[in-house]
Amino acid sequence: MVSDRAIGIHDLSFATTEFVLPHTALADHNGTEIGKYHVGIGQQSMSVPAADEDIVTMGAAAAAPIIARHGTDRIRTVVFATESSIDQAKSAGVYVHSLLGLPSATRVVELKQACYGATAALQFAIGLVLRDPVQRILVIASDISKYDLDSPGEPTQGAAAVAMLVGSDPSLVRIEEPSGLFTADVMDFWRPNYRDAALVDGQESITAYLHAVESTWKDYTEQGGRSLDEFTAFCYHQPFTKMAYKAHRHLLNTCGYDTDEAWLERAIGRTTAYNRVIGNSYTASAYLGLAALLDQADDLAGRPIGFLSYGSGSVAEFFAGTTVPGYREHLRTAAHQEAIDRRRPLDHTAYRELHGRSFPADGGDHPTPSQTTGHFRLAALRGHKRIYEKRW
Ligand code: HMG
Repeated sequence: MVSDRAIGIHDLSFATTEFVLPHTALADHNGTEIGKYHVGIGQQSMSVPAADEDIVTMGAAAAAPIIARHGTDRIRTVVFATESSIDQAKSAGVYVHSLLGLPSATRVVELKQACYGATAALQFAIGLVLRDPVQRILVIASDISKYDLDSPGEPTQGAAAVAMLVGSDPSLVRIEEPSGLFTADVMDFWRPNYRDAALVDGQESITAYLHAVESTWKDYTEQGGRSLDEFTAFCYHQPFTKMAYKAHRHLLNTCGYDTDEAWLERAIGRTTAYNRVIGNSYTASAYLGLAALLDQADDLAGRPIGFLSYGSGSVAEFFAGTTVPGYREHLRTAAHQEAIDRRRPLDHTAYRELHGRSFPADGGDHPTPSQTTGHFRLAALRGHKRIYEKRW
């Protein structure tokens, strides 16, 4: 049973940070053979936020072009998915709602389950559109991936936000039923409230991810999903791009196929172009994979794409989407390339300084160094409040 409800992703836009650290700088610093980064984990560089950037400024920057193109009239819900939350109570989406001038008659909420959060947000949005096909939902996935300096996770850091407009009769991708679902209580990766860098058991996290791949696929098949060879490409969550290859190889083997490297490359290669230079963007990662696929591939109209969303801890979902004929007219390929190319390279010392920054907990008046050249910035922390500013 594959139902086609003509609800899905109407527009997609992403933003990343002011700065970039090439992996060559990290390798020079710690004496790692560069092949481990470029080939072993499949990463070239990582996006690094400026002192006055965060998940709100990136989320607003990702969503602003969507608002510019479609207006605000039909948006009645904003769902902000993140695991880099800046407040235990207030949704980061409320700041974005204000920065973008969205109508007051809007519901705004933040969702969390590690990197899986954006898929929960997407499914939540689809449910709301099923109830009211006229409304559109703004889904924002925004994250900063941060590990301890000199830890194995460090070369997989990154940051980005993806904004998606979800609605009926979408222009880009129709999302299908069914989904394959999986949850297991594992401690593969987590970030207690008192830390700003995540803790991780690297090998355990890879094993848990692969287990989630075969488990979601099993459920997807039992729910009546498509067969594996119907799919043209697969957008996996990419903590590092090599993980998508590992995951797909595992899925092929689980389904009894021998791994054909050319087939693997066709299914995965085009989804890795942005993640390879941005790094892990947690909730945004699988949808950066979709952006790369749509921007890089020749016409995929009518072709099924598989999505595998994994969030440590862990929750995972496999589902399918079909590209809509004419989708290429709605892409933002040049703007996406510009978001990557405009980043300014950091040297290793400047990167470490930024990594070590944390907000003072005294709630006093702390203006933020003016570093970003983007449209939105975190101007200050004043009286325990975050003060944002918009520059057009
Ligand atoms: P590590 O111990 O630094 O690296 O950890 P390694 O020794 O496992 O090497 C990595 C690969 O590089 C290996 O390839 C090596 O052979 C290869 P593999 O065997 O895996 O195919 N290699 C080389 N290749 C070419 N030339 C060379 C060379 N040297 C070595 N000279 C690890 C790697 C990924 C564990 C580490 O970076 C880490 O802990 N990362 C963070 C955790 C992570 O990303 N986990 C992924 C799954 S969990 C997930 O996706 C969820 C997450 O996004 C969080 C969330 O949900 O919120 C993380």
